[in-house]
Amino acid sequence: DWQMGSFIDEKVREIKEIVGNKKVILGLSGGVDSSVAAALIHKAIGDNLYCIFVDHGLLRKNEGEIVYKTFKERFGFNLKMVDASKMFLERLKGVIDPEEKRKIIGKTFVEVFEKEASLFKDAEFLAQGTLYPDVIESSAHGGTSVTIKTHHNVGGLPEKMNLKLLEPLRDLFKDEVREIGRILGLPEEIVSRHPFPGPGLAVRIIGEITEDKIRILQEADHIFIEELRKVGLYNDISQAFAVLTPVKTVGVMGDYRTYEYVLALRAVKTEDFMTADWYEMPYNLLKKVSSRIINKVKGINRVVYDVTSKPPATVEWE
Ligand code: XMP
Repeated sequence: DWQMGSFIDEKVREIKEIVGNKKVILGLSGGVDSSVAAALIHKAIGDNLYCIFVDHGLLRKNEGEIVYKTFKERFGFNLKMVDASKMFLERLKGVIDPEEKRKIIGKTFVEVFEKEASLFKDAEFLAQGTLYPDVIESSAHGGTSVTIKTHHNVGGLPEKMNLKLLEPLRDLFKDEVREIGRILGLPEEIVSRHPFPGPGLAVRIIGEITEDKIRILQEADHIFIEELRKVGLYNDISQAFAVLTPVKTVGVMGDYRTYEYVLALRAVKTEDFMTADWYEMPYNLLKKVSSRIINKVKGINRVVYDVTSKPPATVEWE
Protein backbone atom coordinates (compact mmCIF):
# COMPACT_ATOMS: atom_id res chain seq x y z
CA ASP A 1 0.00 0.00 0.00
CA TRP A 2 1.72 3.20 -1.22
CA GLN A 3 -0.13 5.43 1.24
CA MET A 4 1.05 3.49 4.26
CA GLY A 5 4.47 3.22 2.67
CA SER A 6 4.82 6.97 2.48
CA PHE A 7 3.39 7.31 6.00
CA ILE A 8 6.26 5.13 7.19
CA ASP A 9 8.88 7.23 5.38
CA GLU A 10 7.42 10.40 6.77
CA LYS A 11 7.17 9.08 10.34
CA VAL A 12 10.69 7.71 10.28
CA ARG A 13 11.97 11.13 9.22
CA GLU A 14 9.89 12.80 11.93
CA ILE A 15 11.04 10.41 14.67
CA LYS A 16 14.69 10.94 13.69
CA GLU A 17 14.19 14.66 13.86
CA ILE A 18 12.43 14.65 17.24
CA VAL A 19 14.63 12.06 18.94
CA GLY A 20 18.01 12.86 17.40
CA ASN A 21 20.59 10.66 19.10
CA LYS A 22 18.68 10.42 22.38
CA LYS A 23 17.33 7.13 23.70
CA VAL A 24 13.74 5.88 23.73
CA ILE A 25 12.09 3.37 26.07
CA LEU A 26 9.11 1.30 24.96
CA GLY A 27 6.97 -1.23 26.81
CA LEU A 28 6.59 -4.11 24.40
CA SER A 29 3.56 -6.29 25.14
CA GLY A 30 3.44 -8.53 22.09
CA GLY A 31 0.21 -6.88 20.97
CA VAL A 32 -0.18 -5.23 17.58
CA ASP A 33 0.09 -1.63 18.73
CA SER A 34 3.27 -1.76 20.76
CA SER A 35 4.88 -4.14 18.26
CA VAL A 36 4.25 -1.86 15.29
CA ALA A 37 5.29 1.22 17.27
CA ALA A 38 8.52 -0.58 18.15
CA ALA A 39 9.20 -1.63 14.56
CA LEU A 40 8.60 1.89 13.28
CA ILE A 41 10.79 3.55 15.89
CA HIS A 42 13.47 0.92 15.42
CA LYS A 43 13.54 1.69 11.72
CA ALA A 44 14.22 5.31 12.63
CA ILE A 45 16.72 5.04 15.49
CA GLY A 46 17.84 1.39 15.69
CA ASP A 47 19.76 0.55 18.87
CA ASN A 48 18.71 3.75 20.58
CA LEU A 49 15.35 2.09 21.16
CA TYR A 50 15.17 0.09 24.40
CA CYS A 51 12.24 -2.30 24.63
CA ILE A 52 11.03 -3.72 27.92
CA PHE A 53 8.75 -6.75 28.07
CA VAL A 54 7.14 -7.34 31.45
CA ASP A 55 5.76 -10.83 32.02
CA HIS A 56 3.09 -10.62 34.72
CA GLY A 57 2.52 -14.35 34.59
CA LEU A 58 -0.96 -13.98 33.12
CA LEU A 59 -0.10 -14.03 29.46
CA ARG A 60 -1.20 -16.44 26.77
CA LYS A 61 0.81 -19.59 26.18
CA ASN A 62 4.20 -18.90 24.51
CA GLU A 63 3.65 -15.16 24.52
CA GLY A 64 7.06 -14.24 25.90
CA GLU A 65 8.72 -16.70 23.56
CA ILE A 66 7.08 -15.22 20.47
CA VAL A 67 8.15 -11.73 21.49
CA TYR A 68 11.71 -12.84 22.25
CA LYS A 69 12.10 -14.83 19.04
CA THR A 70 10.67 -12.10 16.87
CA PHE A 71 12.19 -8.97 18.30
CA LYS A 72 15.43 -10.15 19.88
CA GLU A 73 16.52 -13.11 17.77
CA ARG A 74 15.07 -12.19 14.41
CA PHE A 75 15.21 -8.41 14.38
CA GLY A 76 18.01 -7.86 16.91
CA PHE A 77 16.23 -5.21 18.96
CA ASN A 78 17.51 -4.07 22.33
CA LEU A 79 15.00 -5.97 24.43
CA LYS A 80 14.88 -6.68 28.10
CA MET A 81 12.62 -9.52 29.25
CA VAL A 82 11.44 -9.08 32.82
CA ASP A 83 9.78 -11.98 34.60
CA ALA A 84 7.76 -10.41 37.40
CA SER A 85 5.18 -13.18 37.61
CA LYS A 86 6.02 -14.15 41.21
CA MET A 87 5.30 -10.65 42.47
CA PHE A 88 2.03 -10.36 40.57
CA LEU A 89 0.76 -13.77 41.66
CA GLU A 90 1.73 -13.08 45.24
CA ARG A 91 -0.28 -9.86 45.28
CA LEU A 92 -3.26 -11.46 43.55
CA LYS A 93 -3.48 -14.32 46.00
CA GLY A 94 -7.04 -14.66 47.33
CA VAL A 95 -8.35 -11.71 45.31
CA ILE A 96 -11.65 -12.39 43.55
CA ASP A 97 -13.08 -8.95 42.77
CA PRO A 98 -12.45 -8.06 39.09
CA GLU A 99 -11.78 -4.36 39.72
CA GLU A 100 -9.47 -5.22 42.58
CA LYS A 101 -7.54 -7.55 40.24
CA ARG A 102 -7.24 -4.77 37.67
CA LYS A 103 -6.03 -2.26 40.26
CA ILE A 104 -3.40 -4.59 41.65
CA ILE A 105 -2.11 -5.49 38.21
CA GLY A 106 -2.13 -1.89 36.97
CA LYS A 107 -0.28 -0.64 40.02
CA THR A 108 2.23 -3.47 40.06
CA PHE A 109 2.85 -3.10 36.35
CA VAL A 110 3.67 0.59 36.69
CA GLU A 111 5.93 -0.18 39.62
CA VAL A 112 7.88 -2.87 37.76
CA PHE A 113 8.05 -0.92 34.53
CA GLU A 114 9.25 2.26 36.24
CA LYS A 115 11.98 0.39 38.04
CA GLU A 116 13.18 -1.28 34.85
CA ALA A 117 12.96 1.93 32.86
CA SER A 118 14.94 3.85 35.45
CA LEU A 119 17.85 1.47 34.83
CA PHE A 120 18.15 3.04 31.39
CA LYS A 121 19.49 6.27 32.79
CA ASP A 122 20.08 8.00 29.51
CA ALA A 123 16.56 7.66 28.11
CA GLU A 124 14.62 10.83 27.33
CA PHE A 125 11.55 9.47 25.63
CA LEU A 126 8.82 6.97 26.42
CA ALA A 127 7.14 5.51 23.35
CA GLN A 128 3.60 4.13 23.36
CA GLY A 129 1.47 2.47 20.73
CA THR A 130 -1.50 4.77 21.27
CA LEU A 131 -3.97 4.72 18.36
CA TYR A 132 -6.52 7.28 17.25
CA PRO A 133 -9.47 5.48 18.91
CA ASP A 134 -7.52 5.45 22.23
CA VAL A 135 -7.04 9.20 21.96
CA ILE A 136 -10.76 9.69 21.37
CA GLU A 137 -11.74 7.29 24.13
CA SER A 138 -9.55 8.80 26.80
CA SER A 139 -10.77 12.31 26.05
CA ALA A 140 -14.39 11.11 26.03
CA HIS A 141 -13.97 9.26 29.32
CA GLY A 142 -12.10 12.09 30.97
CA GLY A 143 -15.19 13.76 32.33
CA THR A 144 -17.35 10.84 33.32
CA SER A 145 -17.78 9.74 36.88
CA VAL A 146 -18.95 6.24 36.06
CA THR A 147 -16.36 3.61 35.30
CA ILE A 148 -17.71 0.40 33.92
CA LYS A 149 -14.30 -1.20 33.85
CA THR A 150 -10.97 0.45 34.40
CA HIS A 151 -9.05 -0.22 31.22
CA HIS A 152 -5.43 0.01 31.99
CA ASN A 153 -2.69 -0.30 29.48
CA VAL A 154 0.33 1.63 30.66
CA GLY A 155 -1.55 4.85 31.26
CA GLY A 156 -0.12 7.30 33.76
CA LEU A 157 3.47 6.30 33.24
CA PRO A 158 5.08 9.28 31.53
CA GLU A 159 3.97 11.97 34.00
CA LYS A 160 5.75 10.29 36.86
CA MET A 161 8.81 9.30 34.91
CA ASN A 162 9.84 12.62 33.55
CA LEU A 163 10.08 11.31 30.02
CA LYS A 164 8.77 12.90 26.86
CA LEU A 165 6.00 10.96 25.21
CA LEU A 166 6.45 9.55 21.71
CA GLU A 167 3.27 8.22 20.06
CA PRO A 168 3.89 7.66 16.35
CA LEU A 169 0.59 5.83 15.74
CA ARG A 170 -1.82 8.28 17.30
CA ASP A 171 -3.42 9.32 13.99
CA LEU A 172 -4.09 5.76 12.88
CA PHE A 173 -6.80 3.14 13.05
CA LYS A 174 -6.13 -0.52 13.82
CA ASP A 175 -6.33 -1.69 10.19
CA GLU A 176 -3.77 0.89 9.14
CA VAL A 177 -1.49 -0.14 11.97
CA ARG A 178 -1.71 -3.79 10.90
CA GLU A 179 -0.87 -2.77 7.33
CA ILE A 180 2.18 -0.85 8.50
CA GLY A 181 3.28 -3.83 10.57
CA ARG A 182 3.10 -6.01 7.47
CA ILE A 183 5.11 -3.57 5.39
CA LEU A 184 7.71 -3.42 8.15
CA GLY A 185 8.00 -7.21 8.00
CA LEU A 186 6.40 -8.22 11.29
CA PRO A 187 5.09 -11.80 11.27
CA GLU A 188 1.39 -12.33 10.59
CA GLU A 189 1.09 -14.01 13.99
CA ILE A 190 1.73 -10.63 15.63
CA VAL A 191 0.17 -8.33 13.03
CA SER A 192 -3.23 -10.05 12.93
CA ARG A 193 -3.43 -10.68 16.65
CA HIS A 194 -6.69 -10.17 18.51
CA PRO A 195 -6.58 -7.58 21.29
CA PHE A 196 -5.57 -8.88 24.70
CA PRO A 197 -6.49 -7.03 27.91
CA GLY A 198 -3.73 -5.54 30.04
CA PRO A 199 -4.68 -7.64 33.09
CA GLY A 200 -4.59 -10.68 30.79
CA LEU A 201 -5.75 -14.03 32.07
CA ALA A 202 -6.47 -12.54 35.50
CA VAL A 203 -9.87 -11.43 34.23
CA ARG A 204 -10.43 -14.70 32.38
CA ILE A 205 -9.97 -16.84 35.46
CA ILE A 206 -13.19 -16.15 37.28
CA GLY A 207 -12.58 -15.90 40.99
CA GLU A 208 -9.31 -16.78 42.63
CA ILE A 209 -6.17 -17.09 40.52
CA THR A 210 -3.80 -20.00 41.06
CA GLU A 211 -0.82 -21.19 39.06
CA ASP A 212 -2.66 -24.38 38.26
CA LYS A 213 -5.62 -22.47 36.84
CA ILE A 214 -3.33 -20.28 34.76
CA ARG A 215 -1.77 -23.36 33.22
CA ILE A 216 -5.17 -24.94 32.51
CA LEU A 217 -6.46 -21.79 30.86
CA GLN A 218 -3.31 -21.23 28.79
CA GLU A 219 -3.49 -24.74 27.38
CA ALA A 220 -7.20 -24.60 26.59
CA ASP A 221 -7.00 -21.12 25.06
CA HIS A 222 -4.07 -22.18 22.92
CA ILE A 223 -6.02 -25.12 21.47
CA PHE A 224 -9.01 -22.89 20.68
CA ILE A 225 -6.88 -20.28 18.89
CA GLU A 226 -4.87 -22.90 17.06
CA GLU A 227 -8.03 -24.51 15.67
CA LEU A 228 -9.43 -21.13 14.61
CA ARG A 229 -6.24 -20.38 12.71
CA LYS A 230 -6.17 -23.84 11.15
CA VAL A 231 -9.59 -23.42 9.52
CA GLY A 232 -8.90 -19.80 8.58
CA LEU A 233 -11.55 -18.23 10.80
CA TYR A 234 -9.22 -16.36 13.16
CA ASN A 235 -9.11 -13.21 11.06
CA ASP A 236 -12.87 -13.18 10.59
CA ILE A 237 -13.32 -12.92 14.36
CA SER A 238 -12.58 -9.75 16.32
CA GLN A 239 -11.66 -11.47 19.55
CA ALA A 240 -11.68 -15.10 20.67
CA PHE A 241 -10.53 -16.65 23.91
CA ALA A 242 -11.28 -19.15 26.64
CA VAL A 243 -12.56 -18.38 30.14
CA LEU A 244 -12.00 -20.62 33.14
CA THR A 245 -15.04 -20.67 35.40
CA PRO A 246 -14.85 -21.57 39.10
CA VAL A 247 -17.68 -24.05 38.59
CA LYS A 248 -16.94 -27.74 38.90
CA THR A 249 -19.27 -30.33 37.45
CA VAL A 250 -19.48 -34.08 37.40
CA GLY A 251 -18.35 -36.08 34.41
CA VAL A 252 -17.31 -39.61 33.48
CA MET A 253 -14.02 -40.82 32.10
CA GLY A 254 -13.87 -44.54 31.45
CA ASP A 255 -14.97 -46.18 34.68
CA TYR A 256 -14.38 -43.12 36.77
CA ARG A 257 -16.43 -40.18 37.86
CA THR A 258 -14.64 -36.85 37.44
CA TYR A 259 -15.27 -33.53 39.15
CA GLU A 260 -13.55 -30.76 37.20
CA TYR A 261 -13.91 -27.18 35.95
CA VAL A 262 -16.23 -25.83 33.26
CA LEU A 263 -14.43 -23.93 30.50
CA ALA A 264 -16.24 -21.33 28.40
CA LEU A 265 -15.30 -20.36 24.86
CA ARG A 266 -15.98 -16.79 23.75
CA ALA A 267 -15.77 -15.30 20.26
CA VAL A 268 -17.18 -11.98 19.08
CA LYS A 269 -17.39 -9.83 16.01
CA THR A 270 -17.35 -6.07 16.44
CA GLU A 271 -16.25 -2.80 14.88
CA ASP A 272 -15.32 -0.88 18.01
CA PHE A 273 -15.83 -3.20 21.03
CA MET A 274 -18.53 -0.89 22.40
CA THR A 275 -21.07 -3.35 21.06
CA ALA A 276 -20.34 -6.86 19.84
CA ASP A 277 -22.15 -9.85 18.38
CA TRP A 278 -21.39 -13.37 19.50
CA TYR A 279 -19.78 -15.26 16.65
CA GLU A 280 -21.74 -17.97 14.84
CA MET A 281 -19.14 -20.66 15.18
CA PRO A 282 -19.50 -23.73 12.96
CA TYR A 283 -20.69 -26.73 15.00
CA ASN A 284 -18.02 -29.07 13.67
CA LEU A 285 -15.34 -26.65 14.82
CA LEU A 286 -16.86 -26.37 18.31
CA LYS A 287 -16.96 -30.15 18.40
CA LYS A 288 -13.29 -30.43 17.46
CA VAL A 289 -12.15 -27.76 19.93
CA SER A 290 -14.22 -29.21 22.74
CA SER A 291 -12.95 -32.76 22.34
CA ARG A 292 -9.34 -31.64 21.95
CA ILE A 293 -9.58 -29.58 25.14
CA ILE A 294 -11.25 -32.32 27.14
CA ASN A 295 -8.72 -34.89 25.97
CA LYS A 296 -5.62 -32.76 26.36
CA VAL A 297 -6.22 -30.40 29.27
CA LYS A 298 -6.32 -31.97 32.68
CA GLY A 299 -8.69 -30.11 35.00
CA ILE A 300 -11.54 -29.49 32.55
CA ASN A 301 -14.37 -31.93 31.89
CA ARG A 302 -16.97 -29.68 30.28
CA VAL A 303 -16.83 -26.99 27.57
CA VAL A 304 -19.56 -24.43 26.85
CA TYR A 305 -19.91 -21.70 24.21
CA ASP A 306 -21.01 -18.18 25.13
CA VAL A 307 -23.94 -17.04 22.97
CA THR A 308 -24.40 -13.58 24.48
CA SER A 309 -23.85 -10.30 22.67
CA LYS A 310 -22.69 -6.96 24.09
CA PRO A 311 -24.83 -5.45 25.45
CA PRO A 312 -26.15 -6.90 27.70
CA ALA A 313 -22.95 -8.90 28.34
CA THR A 314 -19.45 -7.49 28.06
CA VAL A 315 -16.81 -9.14 25.90
CA GLU A 316 -14.77 -10.29 28.89
CA TRP A 317 -16.42 -12.19 31.72
CA GLU A 318 -14.90 -9.98 34.40
P1 XMP B 1 -15.49 -5.46 27.60
O1 XMP B 1 -15.30 -6.68 28.42
O2 XMP B 1 -15.44 -4.20 28.40
O3 XMP B 1 -14.22 -5.42 26.63
O4 XMP B 1 -16.69 -5.53 26.69
C1 XMP B 1 -14.07 -4.55 25.54
C2 XMP B 1 -12.64 -4.69 25.05
O5 XMP B 1 -11.76 -4.20 26.06
C3 XMP B 1 -10.87 -5.21 26.48
N1 XMP B 1 -10.68 -5.08 27.93
C4 XMP B 1 -9.58 -4.58 28.51
N2 XMP B 1 -8.44 -4.11 27.98
N3 XMP B 1 -7.62 -3.70 30.15
C5 XMP B 1 -7.44 -3.68 28.81
O6 XMP B 1 -6.37 -3.27 28.36
C6 XMP B 1 -8.75 -4.14 30.76
O7 XMP B 1 -8.86 -4.12 31.98
C7 XMP B 1 -9.78 -4.60 29.89
N4 XMP B 1 -11.02 -5.10 30.12
C8 XMP B 1 -11.56 -5.39 28.90
C9 XMP B 1 -11.52 -6.51 26.09
O8 XMP B 1 -10.56 -7.54 25.93
C10 XMP B 1 -12.22 -6.13 24.81
O9 XMP B 1 -11.30 -6.13 23.71
